[in-house]
Amino acid sequence: MQSLSDLLIESQIFAKREVLSPHYTPHTLLYREQEINNIEKALAPSLKGEKGRNLFVYGRTGTGKTSCVKYVMEEVKNIPNIKAKLSYINCRLYNSRFRVLNKIISDHLTTYAKRGYGAVDLYEKIASWIEEDNKILVVVLDEIDIVKDLDDLIYTLTRINSDIKAGGVTIIGISNKVSFKEELDPRSLSTLYETELVFAPYYATELYAILKDRINQGFKKDVVDDEVIHYIAAISAKEGGDARFSLKILTKAGELAEEKHFQKVTKADAEAAVKIIENEVVYDIISTLPEHQKIVLYAIAILTKSGGTYKKLTDGNDTYLFSGEVYNRYCSLTQSVKKEPKSERWYRKYLSELEMQGLIISFESGKGIRGHTKLIKLLYPANKIKDAIEKQIFGTDIFEHVEN
Ligand SMILES: Nc1ncnc2c1ncn2[C@@H]1O[C@H](COP(=O)(O)OP(=O)(O)OP(=O)(O)O)[C@@H](O)[C@H]1O
Ligand SMILES: [Mg+2]
Repeated sequence: MQSLSDLLIESQIFAKREVLSPHYTPHTLLYREQEINNIEKALAPSLKGEKGRNLFVYGRTGTGKTSCVKYVMEEVKNIPNIKAKLSYINCRLYNSRFRVLNKIISDHLTTYAKRGYGAVDLYEKIASWIEEDNKILVVVLDEIDIVKDLDDLIYTLTRINSDIKAGGVTIIGISNKVSFKEELDPRSLSTLYETELVFAPYYATELYAILKDRINQGFKKDVVDDEVIHYIAAISAKEGGDARFSLKILTKAGELAEEKHFQKVTKADAEAAVKIIENEVVYDIISTLPEHQKIVLYAIAILTKSGGTYKKLTDGNDTYLFSGEVYNRYCSLTQSVKKEPKSERWYRKYLSELEMQGLIISFESGKGIRGHTKLIKLLYPANKIKDAIEKQIFGTDIFEHVEN
C-alpha cells in the first residue's frame, strides 16, 4: 500500500499515465493500415451520400477492432459538408432494439422528447429525419452480439431503406464472438455480412512495437528495458495476440515498480503483473459468459480438480477430461439448479465458445482411447475458475450441497 504522501511525490516511472488508460485512443494504430483502409472503403459511399454496403468486423479480443473503427469515425468528423451522420453504439450499454433506436435519437435528434415513445414512434421519427434531406445514417454497433433482439434490430434498421424514398442506413457491426454467426437469422446474416473484415491476432513482434510506442509516450526515459518488453510481448502473443492484455501487464508492472520506489520496471514486476492481470481477465471473461457456458466451465473445473477419468487411465501430469464425462456432469449440475440441460449439439457449441475465449483447449483423442473421443483441458487453475463462477453467478453457495 502507498501512503498519501507517496502518491503525491512525482512518479519515477510514469511520465504520462493517461496514455496507458484503457480509454485512451492512440493517434497511430500500428499494423492496422490495411484494416483502416478497408473500413474507409466500406464507408466511402455513405460519405458521398450513397447507401454503402454493410460491414461486419470481427476478430479476437484486443486486436484493435474498436480502435480502428473509432479512428475512422474521427477522420470523418474532420471532413466538412458530408451527408452521412454517424452513431457509435456500445451494445454493452445499449443492448436492445429499443435502446439502440433511442441512442440514435439522442445522438441526432436532441429536441425530440425521449420519454413515452414506443419503438414504432422512434422508428418513424428516424426514418422521416433521414428522408428529409437524403441523409445516410451510419450505425456502428460495437459488441453487436450482446443485443438481445438483434434480428429485430437489424430488420428494423434495414427496413428504413425500403420504406423511404431517399437516403438510407448503413450498418457496421463489430464482434469478437466467432460462433455468433450461427445464431443469427439467415436474413439478418446476409444483411450484416455484406462485407466482412477479419482482424488477426497480433504477433509478438507487433505487440513489441505497440508496447514500445506506448512506453515512449507514457513512461519516463529508460525505465522499461527491452528484455521486459520482449517478455510481455511474447506472453501476450501466446495468450491470443491481445494488445489490451499486453498494455494492462505493462501498466500493472509499472505500478508494482512504483509502489516499491524502484527506478526501473524489472522482469519480476512483469511476471507478477501477468499473474494479477490474468486473474482479472479470467474473471471478466467469465462474467460475460452466458449461463449455460458458465455451467459447462464449472463442470470442467470441478472434474479437473478431482482429476478426470483420462488422467486415471494414463497417470499423466496434466488433467484431460473426456467430453462425455463433462457433458454428464453439466447435465446433473443444470438439473440441480432446476434448469433444463441443453442438447449435446448446444454443448459442443459451448465448448468451442469456451475454447475461443482461451479458457479451455480441446482435441480429438486419436485412436485407442475409448475409440475416438474429444478430450478437454482447462487452461487456468481449476480452483480459481471454480471460485470465480461461484462468486459471480450462483451466489456463494448454490452448488455447495451438490459438489465438492
Ligand atoms: N494497432 C494498435 N496500435 C496501438 N494500440 C493498439 C493497437 N491495437 C489495439 N491497441 C490498443 O489495445 C487496446 C484494445 O484495442 P481495442 O479495444 O480496439 O480491441 P478490440 O478488438 O475492440 O477488442 P474487444 O473485442 O475486446 O472489444 C486498446 O487500448 C488500444 O489502444
Ligand atoms: Mg472492442
